[in-house]
Amino acid sequence: MDIRFQTGGPAAWKAPVMLVFACKGENPADNCPEIADAAPWFTIAPGVRDFSGDKLEQALFHGHPDLALPRVLALGLGPRESVTPDIFRRAAAAALARCRTLGLEGVLLPAGQFARFPGGPTRLAEETVCGALLGLYRFTRLRTPKEDDKPDPRRLTLGFTENSVPDGFHAAARRGEHAAVGVALARDLANTPPNILTPAALGEAAEELARRHGMACTLLDRAALAELGCNALLAVGRGSAREPRLIVVEYAPRGHEEDKPLIFIGKGLTFDSGGICIKPPQNMHTMKSDMAGAAAVLGALEAVALDDLPRRVIAVLPCAENMPDGDAMRPGDVVTSLAGKTVEILNTDAEGRLALCDALTYAQRNWTPAAVVDIATLTGACAVALGQEVAGLFTDDDALAERIAAAGRVVGDNYWRLPLWEPYQEHLKSEVADISHMGPREGGAINAALFLKNFVEPGVRWAHLDIAGTDWAFKKTPLSPVGAVGFGVRTLIELARGGV
Ligand code: BES
Ligand code: MN
Ligand code: ZN
Repeated sequence: MDIRFQTGGPAAWKAPVMLVFACKGENPADNCPEIADAAPWFTIAPGVRDFSGDKLEQALFHGHPDLALPRVLALGLGPRESVTPDIFRRAAAAALARCRTLGLEGVLLPAGQFARFPGGPTRLAEETVCGALLGLYRFTRLRTPKEDDKPDPRRLTLGFTENSVPDGFHAAARRGEHAAVGVALARDLANTPPNILTPAALGEAAEELARRHGMACTLLDRAALAELGCNALLAVGRGSAREPRLIVVEYAPRGHEEDKPLIFIGKGLTFDSGGICIKPPQNMHTMKSDMAGAAAVLGALEAVALDDLPRRVIAVLPCAENMPDGDAMRPGDVVTSLAGKTVEILNTDAEGRLALCDALTYAQRNWTPAAVVDIATLTGACAVALGQEVAGLFTDDDALAERIAAAGRVVGDNYWRLPLWEPYQEHLKSEVADISHMGPREGGAINAALFLKNFVEPGVRWAHLDIAGTDWAFKKTPLSPVGAVGFGVRTLIELARGGV
């Protein structure tokens, strides 16, 4: 769907449907005075009285079919005092899905409406555009098109009363669009089944992304990883017929080649069966999205490149498939990580941290990062603690924690800070190796984060995002069908756009 701009006021506007936001108990026309000129019939439409403005309520009003704006779709935002950017995202998503069902080709949204709510008009425009695009997302690549699959609306037009687009709206709409492209890429990757999206295929997807945007991409295969000494990552992939990969993508625009990079590390388990400590079969298929962290990083990088951001950003993605096999890693194995620390493996299902620890070392050896943020579907314990709507945020750096939490609040990725509780390092002591990769079930998300912390050099700004549980929608919402939701993509984009 194209995002367009129409200036010159209602007399110049033309589209099959116009979207009007309205709060509970208010007349939709009050929030959108333009409507008196754009669709005068609407202000006297008797049906307006049926519309109460509840959250996500929709009402479609019909004028004469020959009018330039023959329909109005009113979108409820709920009570005015509780309106947040999130409701604009969701209302816009639901609206575009409805317009698709109705077979409407173009949608016009009077942009003057944004000024009548808190949050900043350009930010609300950005969120609305992003939400509108995400509401149309579907993963259809692997099924035969159905007769009644309706095509997406072709245009979303922001309508302005001014004679030129006011400052900031072009850029805001582009940012919203770029973010949606990034989220869609992450969803596509995480929704792709594990027989198709292997570590090698994920490497190819990264190469293709890099090619699209003139970025550098390096793929380390099994032999290269062995040469380097990434034995923790290699151990994870040893039970699989598909080779692991360490994927590195670098975005370094001209003039910023020597910047200290912001480094994103994403867990890229293209399938996690648990290995020899095999998982129960219920919901095992969702472990195809155990690369949602890596997918989020690639999605963010796509948006960063589309935005043309003036800073260096590097993705490091340790990718593997965790399978049981005659050559698979065993509980009791000890491997020498890239950092040189020996690690005792106790449960082959705690594989993510093994993949990540080598990636952390790789990142710090090769660059002096401005900050390192890792994102991973790391522990079921995190999902048990925080549920499916809030991700775990771990860092000793208060400023970084606040940046991430604030970024998440704006874009709708919710985080709750959990402690890197030093006394629990005790849990990671091993009788035979430098460190064990896991502790008891209790505090499982903290234990995993603490394990990773052992691979972070003093003085390096580092945060760990545990997105197990938040990465997958078991029920559809306006912003996402069932499946991968692209959690974290927009957080990472905001970090790259902002001052971290
Ligand atoms: N990929 C899983 C974590 C996970 C669970 C992600 C549910 C999404 C939804 C991870 O590799 C794992 O299996 N972790 C184990 C660790 C345990 C064995 C210490 C877990 O959480 O059970
Ligand atoms: Mn696992
Ligand atoms: Zn896993």
